[in-house]
Amino acid sequence: MNKDIQEILFSEDELDAMVGRVADKINRDYSGEEILLVGLLKGSVVFITDLMRKINVPCSIDFMLVSSYGRSTVSSGMVNVKMDLNEEIEGKNVLIVEDIIDSGNTLSAVLELLGSRNPKSLKLASLLSKPSRRQKDITIDYLGTEIEDLFVVGYGLDYAEKYRSLPYIGILKPEVYM
Ligand code: IMP
Ligand code: MG
Repeated sequence: MNKDIQEILFSEDELDAMVGRVADKINRDYSGEEILLVGLLKGSVVFITDLMRKINVPCSIDFMLVSSYGRSTVSSGMVNVKMDLNEEIEGKNVLIVEDIIDSGNTLSAVLELLGSRNPKSLKLASLLSKPSRRQKDITIDYLGTEIEDLFVVGYGLDYAEKYRSLPYIGILKPEVYM
């Protein structure tokens, strides 16, 4: 285990099972359809690459890099698009893939932006969610699991760009960020 990790919250095996459950539901719901997976950089990269290998309907992927302008003050639609999609999404089944939904501010802005481009459908998959932190009402169509208000890293999630490559999700030792 990495020396900065206090406790492992989800092991590699647990994550594999969690992603499998999400993929099963997606496979059922999109049977006979095609999906465009839209990964939000950078946190979703590990989740999206594992998820896509468990999806058995035709799917393609694209990426977007966004940042919200602020925290509590951000209004819907106020999102800074640092790198936009490469694909047109009009008429497509778009499934946004995110690592974790915290306040929901980023996602509510992204949903509004992509919704304005007339996709055939627009849904959201997130590995984790911290419902106690929510400021925007967001429907997560496919969720791995809810967690408490803890700061977690690994499996794509970072603290100051570190720990993304850990194969598990763990809680950082407080002394690392104090
Ligand atoms: P939101 O707009 O507050 O929902 O922001 C969600 C984003 O904050 C996620 O995509 C992550 O990049 C980041 N984030 C929130 N909680 C955590 C955490 O526990 N660990 C790592 N990143 C987090
Ligand atoms: Mg993120």
